[in-house]
Amino acid sequence: MAQQRPHVFVTRRLPGDAVERLRAQASVDLWDGDLPPPRAVLLERAREADGLISLLTERIDEEFLRACPRIKAVCNVAVGFDNIDLAACTRHGVFATNTPRVLTDTTADFAFALLMAAARRVVEGDHFSRSGEWKTWDPGGLLGTDVHGGTLGLVGVGQIGGAVARRGRGFEMKILYTDAVPRPDLEAELGLMRSELDPLLQAADFVSLHVPLLPETRHLIGARELALMKPTAVLINTSRGPVVDGAALAKALKAGRPGFAALDVTEQEPIALDDPLLGLPNCIVTPHIASGSLTTRANMASLAVENLLEALAGRVPPTCLNPEAATNRRGD
Ligand code: DGY
Repeated sequence: MAQQRPHVFVTRRLPGDAVERLRAQASVDLWDGDLPPPRAVLLERAREADGLISLLTERIDEEFLRACPRIKAVCNVAVGFDNIDLAACTRHGVFATNTPRVLTDTTADFAFALLMAAARRVVEGDHFSRSGEWKTWDPGGLLGTDVHGGTLGLVGVGQIGGAVARRGRGFEMKILYTDAVPRPDLEAELGLMRSELDPLLQAADFVSLHVPLLPETRHLIGARELALMKPTAVLINTSRGPVVDGAALAKALKAGRPGFAALDVTEQEPIALDDPLLGLPNCIVTPHIASGSLTTRANMASLAVENLLEALAGRVPPTCLNPEAATNRRGD
């Protein structure tokens, strides 16, 4: 008897040909909207599915896992997985996967692009040219901060933080880092120096955040921490919005300490148009695009699909976050 093809729900169109490859082995239901499927639609469409390709916009929790009893794997197209209740997945015998490594350099490039743009006032310069304010070459106009030779403070040095450090090294920066885990490898290779958070914030010209969103990193950077930063310093966030207290940041930027922020992630996404951060000339906000190169987004989709196909074949997927879920794996 011919075996039934597994049924999978994919919550958004994805760059590259990964979904086509998935179609060759599974029956694919693809949500074709530009916005994420509403919660009720997600629960309904995934109810009969054996697997899910999800994005960081989908909340995978106890309610979802109960509503979708056939699901064997939830494969996130993102390295971050704060949208997934991992413990609940393990309890239900569902593999959860993410997409590490394939986006490391692309994300680090973007963190550095934000750093450079803020330091050298690229966005303000563009507005200046378009608005007709550019009257002459001005020796005192739109002066920025030198990147080369500056002090870079990395909060978290996993894969992406380490890749940002490499870029900083190329600009001859002095690099401090704070992390629960010491990185003697990066200390030896790139001259990184481990520090506590407070002295790092006090010393750095550029503070770049690379921690996952966990209960202990929510509002890690609040009013107290911002007040420690130099008035000329730049805060860069490409991690998760809630790592920074956005309201405190708006107040701090208005008061001029730190001098600048460049954010690819915000507490609410998309950011509300009346959010005070958007009214500040010393704040750049981009729409969560740090991993957004064509190649990398296609690679992320490919890895998510590979994870799902492995799980559907009864194996532990390559970038599985909870291999222990195998012990109480759901049956067919
Ligand atoms: C991730 O992968 O977690 C990003 O935020 C999207 O690339």
